[in-house]
Amino acid sequence: MKYGFFDDSAREYAILTPKTPYPWINYLGNEKFFSLVSNTAGGYAFHTDARLRRLTRYRYNDIPLDTNGRYFYLQDGDALWSPGWKPVKADLDSYECRHGFGYTRFNSSKNGLRAKVLLFVPNGADAEVQMVTLTNESRAAKDVTLVSFVEWCLYNALDDCTNFQRNFSTGEVEILGGAIYHKTEYRERRNHYAFYSVNATPVGFDTDRESFLGLYNGLAAPQTLLDGKSANSVADGWSPIASHRLRCTLAPGESKTYVFVLGYVENDPADKWAPAPEPGLLQPNHRMRVLNKAKALALQERFSLPEKVMAAFDELRAFWDGLLSRFTLQTGNARLDRMALWNQYQCVVTYNFARSASYFESGIGRGIGFRDTSQDMLGVVHQIPERARERLFDVASTQFEDGSAYHQFQPLTKRGNADIGSNFNDDPLWLILGVGNYIRETGDVDFLKVDVPFDNSETNKATMFEHLKRSYNYIPNHMGPHGLPLIGRADWNDCLNLNCFSTNPNDSFQTCTNKEGKNAESVMIAEMFVYVTPDYVQMCRLMGEEEEAKRAEDAAAKMEAQICNAAWDGEWYVRAFDDAGRKIGSKECEDGKIFIESQGFGTMAKIGKDKGYPEKSLDSVKKYLDSKYGIVILDPPYREYHVELGEVSSYPPGYKENGGIFCHNNPWVIIGEVVNGRPQDAFEHYKKIAPAYLEDISEIHRTEPYVYAQMIAGKTARRFGEAKNSWLTGTAAWNFVTLSQYLCGLRPTWKGLEVEPRLPEHVKNAQLVRKFQGVTYKINVINKKNDGAVSIVVTNGKADVDGTIVKAQAGQKEVSREVTIG
Ligand code: BGC
Ligand code: NOJ
Repeated sequence: MKYGFFDDSAREYAILTPKTPYPWINYLGNEKFFSLVSNTAGGYAFHTDARLRRLTRYRYNDIPLDTNGRYFYLQDGDALWSPGWKPVKADLDSYECRHGFGYTRFNSSKNGLRAKVLLFVPNGADAEVQMVTLTNESRAAKDVTLVSFVEWCLYNALDDCTNFQRNFSTGEVEILGGAIYHKTEYRERRNHYAFYSVNATPVGFDTDRESFLGLYNGLAAPQTLLDGKSANSVADGWSPIASHRLRCTLAPGESKTYVFVLGYVENDPADKWAPAPEPGLLQPNHRMRVLNKAKALALQERFSLPEKVMAAFDELRAFWDGLLSRFTLQTGNARLDRMALWNQYQCVVTYNFARSASYFESGIGRGIGFRDTSQDMLGVVHQIPERARERLFDVASTQFEDGSAYHQFQPLTKRGNADIGSNFNDDPLWLILGVGNYIRETGDVDFLKVDVPFDNSETNKATMFEHLKRSYNYIPNHMGPHGLPLIGRADWNDCLNLNCFSTNPNDSFQTCTNKEGKNAESVMIAEMFVYVTPDYVQMCRLMGEEEEAKRAEDAAAKMEAQICNAAWDGEWYVRAFDDAGRKIGSKECEDGKIFIESQGFGTMAKIGKDKGYPEKSLDSVKKYLDSKYGIVILDPPYREYHVELGEVSSYPPGYKENGGIFCHNNPWVIIGEVVNGRPQDAFEHYKKIAPAYLEDISEIHRTEPYVYAQMIAGKTARRFGEAKNSWLTGTAAWNFVTLSQYLCGLRPTWKGLEVEPRLPEHVKNAQLVRKFQGVTYKINVINKKNDGAVSIVVTNGKADVDGTIVKAQAGQKEVSREVTIG
């Protein structure tokens, strides 16, 4: 069942009912000011850091679901309603929510009154702009009241929902004309404040939640709305909010537009205060000093008129069109073409937010993951190379001298997170993958020569290349009894905690370690080591380190031989060895006989190709792990808790790491299928998890049909096919790599752009555009037999063709080619 549709020409997903199977959200903001917005206007805003600079309050896992957001109330005669349906939940005559790239709009009506709301964060502005247009579509004049509402969060989101003994006494506000300022804790250590303004003179306002709602009312029926009158409350402690009351009379056919700005300001500490209260200023206590509002006023002025808002909106659209034009796809298959667009959008959002704030990540639990963000690079480097570079620098700065790294860091401080610490032994290799991809894409070889701190030290630094060297050599320096890499706390599978041995429910699986870590080994890390070696070797040679390059080649060959020797199970690659040296992911095991990760990396790295291992492994994936909704992570799921395995065996069968479908590692198998010559099998796997292909079963899948989720319940789960953790997941980047580099076959290599499309059979002809190192490559694919030979003809513009590698000649800006497959 569908709940909306892709409006391809508008580049929007249009949702036609507020009652989607789960809140379907979007993200606003691209620099520092960020908001989440659901299809009923729920969500919240923060600046830079979802934990430390939370601007508006949200209550996760609240009842009813998705309560709190930027809400509007409309009072029109007896009717009280909200354009986003919530919080009033009155029946609407029409409702539509459209999520676009970086913006969301609502278009609803009731009793002849139409409300259009446009929400976005303009580029270069620390603000969410909200433009509300009311139109009287009836035949009689209307007196309309519009009431706005946001609830402030007291900045530290964790403290805000735990430390009530303090928080209930600290809230501070100022009110001046149409602007409500939130200045809690400003006087002591904060140099920042938030505001919520409107470009009109309100007839009333509220800043105290209790006065606005009534102590025992919910957001659906605030007392001030029932009374038809704002309380004009000036908050003093408790829970500060911001609400404006506006009134207008609309003749038939007449419209009125208001612009609201939810803004954030940082002041220089020396310039924090205004010399004196402005005339008309309201605050709870006249003895308090008054905010310097200069920057806030400038922001309000910048968006004071609808025309100014629309100009900023056009800029935002042009910005996204620019980003999304660097890879485009036209196959005639609408679902595949949509994935090219929406998948890239999800990649940028995931880069921006890391894993911090979604409807499944509270934004207070964790910072940016070392391996997560290193993988996110793969999805954005062609769109925002400068920002990818900056992030890779930040990530490498949290590395230790021995090549290991903090597993996470906070975006605000950029410091490694000591609570979680280090010792996830796959982490170092992801940095090589991230940097390798960045340089292949951009050609910025000098990045390898840049000095980067160890553990954020100002004095202890080494070149980026040296960091990679430490990363690479960390693996052979930490080997276990089978000649395979030690796993540490876990590898990519955070739940394979082979040194944890926890019997105490108060332990965190992520941080508890009871073994010395000298035995448990990861086959996946071994395969990754082989997989990243070609990039590493290339970077060694670019740095003139021939000896290191040779050493790496030897080390990888040895590793491959050792995987074949110790970790081939007959039909598939073993996953790991536990502390006692027993196999994990083997036919010898009762549960967890086969895992996806080692099949994915094993086949991508073509481990044991001469012996036919990749093909056998891929066949085993189909036989044992595949299902109608995708490939499960392992099978059979663990029925019991295994102290020697950790969190993986803690989940009920079919969920999360215990047999769920991880959309993150399905792509590894799909890539494995392509590089081992089976493109049709690749596509069959691809379309099972691609959200645009799941739109028709939204009632089963439940999360947004325009973005990937981390996990779909696996074949043994009661809720088989139901997705969770949508949006912020490495899934986005890996599926984009799959689509653009393997199905479409456009791969940035060290020598130029490789062109080897392996599109599904039903796509007979496709047009691909790829911007690469300043050149636009336009490729027309004729797909006769998708696993056949590739022949390339240059039709326009000059280029050197070497097998499947194409390189524009100096001065060429555009090259067109025709590629025939089969
Ligand atoms: C989840 C993993 C996640 C880890 C760290 C576990 O509970 O199952 O998917 O990576 O926590 O956040
Ligand atoms: C989510 C984590 O963010 C990621 O780092 C991990 O690899 C997967 N879960 C699998 O456990």
